[in-house]
Formats: sequence, structure tokens, C-alpha cells
Amino acid sequence: MQYVTVKGVDTAVSRIGLGGEQLGGHGWGRVTREGLVGVVRQALDSGVTLFDTAPIYGLGESELLLGEELRGRRHKAVVATKCGLNWTPTPRFRKWPDGSPESVRGEVEGSLQRLLTDYVDVCQVHWPDPATPLEDTLGVLADLRTEGKIRAIGCCNFPAELLRKAFSICDVSVVQVPYSLIDRAAATDILPLCLEHGVAVVAYSPLARGLLTGKYGSGSEFGPADNRSRHPYVTGSAWREWPSTAMRLAEIATSMGRTAAELAVAWVLATEGVSATLVGAKSPEQIESVCAGEDGPKLPESLFNEIGETVQGSDHAQ
Ligand SMILES: NC(=O)c1ccc[n+]([C@@H]2O[C@H](COP(=O)([O-])OP(=O)(O)OC[C@H]3O[C@@H](n4cnc5c(N)ncnc54)[C@H](OP(=O)(O)O)[C@@H]3O)[C@@H](O)[C@H]2O)c1
Repeated sequence: MQYVTVKGVDTAVSRIGLGGEQLGGHGWGRVTREGLVGVVRQALDSGVTLFDTAPIYGLGESELLLGEELRGRRHKAVVATKCGLNWTPTPRFRKWPDGSPESVRGEVEGSLQRLLTDYVDVCQVHWPDPATPLEDTLGVLADLRTEGKIRAIGCCNFPAELLRKAFSICDVSVVQVPYSLIDRAAATDILPLCLEHGVAVVAYSPLARGLLTGKYGSGSEFGPADNRSRHPYVTGSAWREWPSTAMRLAEIATSMGRTAAELAVAWVLATEGVSATLVGAKSPEQIESVCAGEDGPKLPESLFNEIGETVQGSDHAQ
């Protein structure tokens, strides 16, 4: 496993981080607690130090599981959670951005309790909140950093213009964006902007939520308990070409004796300006195999270019 440093974070950050959405136990079809516990243990065994989560993943369940599994091993981990998203479970589940200082402070206190820790390494604004001045949201995060409750600040899903503003308000360490062979919008503006400002980019959904693993094609259907049935990658027009992309990637991977998942992750990590990527896993084998791929031969530049050219992507913003 390769590691990078991130401003404000003491522990070396693994270039493959474990995504915490699946650890919440909802929205990805059938998963078992035993399997999810195995995912975290396997990630640690594979050299993963970066663990991404959020209060909303499983409405607290992802943070609870991570807190439990990192007990006694907390110092080995870089725990990155999120804030700025509020929700109500009843009468019908509803979520909305809320970057107000009171809400953010309350969320961070809740995360600390669930994660069984007295600090989080990175606290990331999950989505921009147009109703709250950005100065207020980042102001309370800067206070929490001074108080030692968080070590570094991050922003997820910010357009480039808003990121520029964030960088002028406070020291931002991490930017999270979707980035994969089929979704390359961030390469046009966000990656160069972060490179210029020395901010780490953590690319999420490198497998396009599993679509690039070679298991899925145009005939694939995702059940109602699987959020992919409603995801823009599957329902939106910008990503209509994903089945042919996935097929072509699988062909290239087979010819190299590698898996499509490994190659999709390797391609993201070889992109200039990407510091690390988050892979979500539902079984220990899934995270083990992508980490083993990262330990294998590096992607030569010629092949990186060839894959990027033969496999189609979209630079449409989500
Ligand atoms: N900041 C944000 O707004 C935001 C948004 C989205 C995600 N994220 C973070 O990024 C993480 C990763 O993104 P993601 O979960 O959306 O997508 P992803 O990592 O692109 O895809 C994950 C899915 O791919 C399949 N998979 C994983 N490894 C595999 C392997 N080796 N072989 C075959 N299939 C494999 C699994 O689903 P199946 O087995 O069911 O196919 C898994 O659930 C999330 O967990 C979350 O922490 C952040």
C-alpha cells in the first residue's frame, strides 16, 4: 500500500481508503454485520489507514461499527467523517443540507460519541448549504479544530467556484469528489485547483458504485433496496454509455491478467492530482482484492493513456 501525507493529519494516509457507506448496512442490497466487520478487519490487514464515514450512513450505524472495530487500534487509523447534512427518519425519510454552526457542532459531538474517540482526523462538509454563509460553517469547523476535536477540515461535492471561496476562508486539507473512468468532471477544474493550493483530493466511487467491476451490463437490474436503482449513473443520460465502458475495461483487464475493479482503481490513482481514493466494499474479499491490486505492478503511463482513450467517460457535472 502506498501512503501520502495530508495537511494537519499525523498518520500517513493510505492511497486506498475504505468507504463507509456500505458499513451503514442500508442501500446496497443484502449485507450482513459479520461481513461488514470482516471488511474493516481486512482493510486494516491490507494496510488501509484511511476510513471514511458520515453520520448519515446507516443513520449512525457506519460510525458505530467503525468505532467498535477501531477500538484499541485508533492510532493506526485516519478517521474522516462528515457534517452539514441533516435528516428526519419519519414520517418519510428526508435529508437536507444544514451547515449552521449549531447543527455542525452537534453533529461532530455525535460523531465523537459513536466513533468512541475524542478527535476525528478529518471533518468534511458533506454537501454545500446555500442557506448558510460558508464563513459560518467553516468558522465553527475552525473552532472545533482549535479545540482539538477535529484535526483537519474537508469539503465534499463543492463546485470549483465555491472551493476557491472555501480556500480563502480557512485552511482546507481535503476535497472529496466523485471520480472514475466514467465520471471525469473533476479533472477539468477541481483537480488542477487543488493541485495549485496543495489540497489533497480524495476521489470517491472509483468503481462508479460497482458498475465498472465487470459484473454489470445493460441488462442488469438493481432492486429497490439497492440505491443504484435510483442513482444518476444508472438513470441519468450523461452516463448512458457505462455498459460498453465496463465491458471494454473488463476486456483490457482480462488481457492483462488483472480484474476490472483493480484496473479502475489503478486508473483513478494514476490521475495527476488524486491523492487517494475511497472504495466501498460489502465483503472482505472485495477490499482485499483491490488492495492487492494496488500492491501489484504500477500502471505504466502509456497504458493509463490508452485506457483513458479507449474507455469512454463523461465530463458532465452530476
Ligand atoms: N462525499 C460524498 O458525498 C460521497 C458520496 C458517495 C460515496 N462516498 C464515499 O466513497 C465510498 C466509495 O464510493 P461508492 O461506495 O459510492 O462506490 P465504489 O467504491 O465505486 O463501489 C462500491 C461497490 O462496488 C462493488 N465492489 C467493491 N469492490 C469490488 C471488487 N473488488 N470486485 C467487485 N465488486 C466490488 C460493491 O458493490 P456490489 O458488490 O453490490 O456490486 C461495492 O459496494 C463510499 O463508501 C463513501 O465512503 C462519498
